[in-house]
Amino acid sequence: MKISSVYVCQQCGSTSPQFLGKCPECDSWNSFSEEVTGARHQATARKSEAKVVNLAEVEKTHYQRLKSGFDEVDRVLGGGVVAGSVVLVAGDPGIGKSTLLTQIGLNISKALYVAGEESAQQIKIRADRMKPKANLAVLNEVDVDVVAGVIEEMKPPLVIVDSIQALETSDLESVPGSVGQVRESAHRLQKVAKSSHVPILLVGHVTKEGTVAGPKTLEHMVDVVLNLEGDLATNFRILRGAKNRFGATDEVGIFEMEDKGMIEVKNPSKIFLETQSASWRIPGSAVVPIMTGLRPVLVEIQALVTKTNLPVPRRTGAGVDNNRLQLLAAVLQKRLGLNLFDQDIFVNVTGGLKVVEPAADLAICMAIISSFKDSVITPKTAFTAKQQTCFIGEVGLLGELRPVRGLAKRIAEARKLGFTNIITPEKAKTLAQAMKLTL
Ligand code: TYD
Ligand code: MG
Repeated sequence: MKISSVYVCQQCGSTSPQFLGKCPECDSWNSFSEEVTGARHQATARKSEAKVVNLAEVEKTHYQRLKSGFDEVDRVLGGGVVAGSVVLVAGDPGIGKSTLLTQIGLNISKALYVAGEESAQQIKIRADRMKPKANLAVLNEVDVDVVAGVIEEMKPPLVIVDSIQALETSDLESVPGSVGQVRESAHRLQKVAKSSHVPILLVGHVTKEGTVAGPKTLEHMVDVVLNLEGDLATNFRILRGAKNRFGATDEVGIFEMEDKGMIEVKNPSKIFLETQSASWRIPGSAVVPIMTGLRPVLVEIQALVTKTNLPVPRRTGAGVDNNRLQLLAAVLQKRLGLNLFDQDIFVNVTGGLKVVEPAADLAICMAIISSFKDSVITPKTAFTAKQQTCFIGEVGLLGELRPVRGLAKRIAEARKLGFTNIITPEKAKTLAQAMKLTL
């Protein structure tokens, strides 16, 4: 069985025996990546081996799940690592992927750590700090076929590969980390995971461009994709499900990065309590309880609105969706008549959490208005200005406020943290009304 490789244009599918910078068929640049041809690509139909089953005869099996030793990780996975599954843990360099996965390795006896980037000595230094005297099997290897062989032979309860970008197969000529190598390595690991029922956790670096050899190309090939995120300025780290064949993707796990590794944060509002600076007394700050899965957590939205010196003013968000921000700025301009056309708008979520819910729209708008008007958010109807205010509500294109899910839980969490003036779509029907109540 001869295995040879071919370069394939990822845009139009045309092939070439060598790398081309520009595709002669569809004219796209840098679209060629190396792929294996040969045995795997036999296109002739084969009879008799495949077995068709009727769903009625299929027995319901409960996935066999391995606990990682971290409740925060298991919840994001949907209850633990499923046997034979491949989980990609992606994140920026330095965010803590190796740290978290080494800890998981130490939690599970006989787990195998495949180190493609670091030496066994480096891992030992790290492991000793986390759990002195704990043991972990380490394989220093970059050849994916050797790794697959070891997995089949040892059948460890869990394999950690750090990182997928470091692996290569000698069947391809391109360098490790190239799209072809990364994809082929992931494909081979996926096969060995399925055949041996060993779950594999893959570390994947997010490259700046996000495309070249980044985990983007891997997302379709693995069963679960988890993103490890966080603001490098704080110690908080958030593990978020982006794809999960065995569970929901709206849960997040929250950690604090310490000298001894990642510590679970059981009360998510701890992030809020530690990163807020009583700054809701300064113009441009608004608080919102968002839902992370089933748990409410308070976040502070900060906005800065200043006169622009550009022909097209900036709308820049960190932790919020930029398109959503554009839309909300347009709604504010049209429905409230705010002259934002010559103003730059910067929005930031403190603590490194990402806000993806429309339920935070109202708070984003109020932070922008507060900064624009240079006026602090305070209750206008209550007798005491000491009441702390927070906002819940989706903003529609007409400037109307729409109901959100999990309202009762959000309100309860906000009350718990001392917010008594809670503006909801029930209290204010429109943005204008919300503004009257607080600015
Ligand atoms: P690391 O897990 O190596 O990041 P990644 O694998 O995602 O690139 O962690 C990188 C940083 O974390 C490094 O600057 C040191 C710091 N760190 C801690 O704060 N605590 C720890 O226990 C460890 C191991 C690292
Ligand atoms: Mg690392």
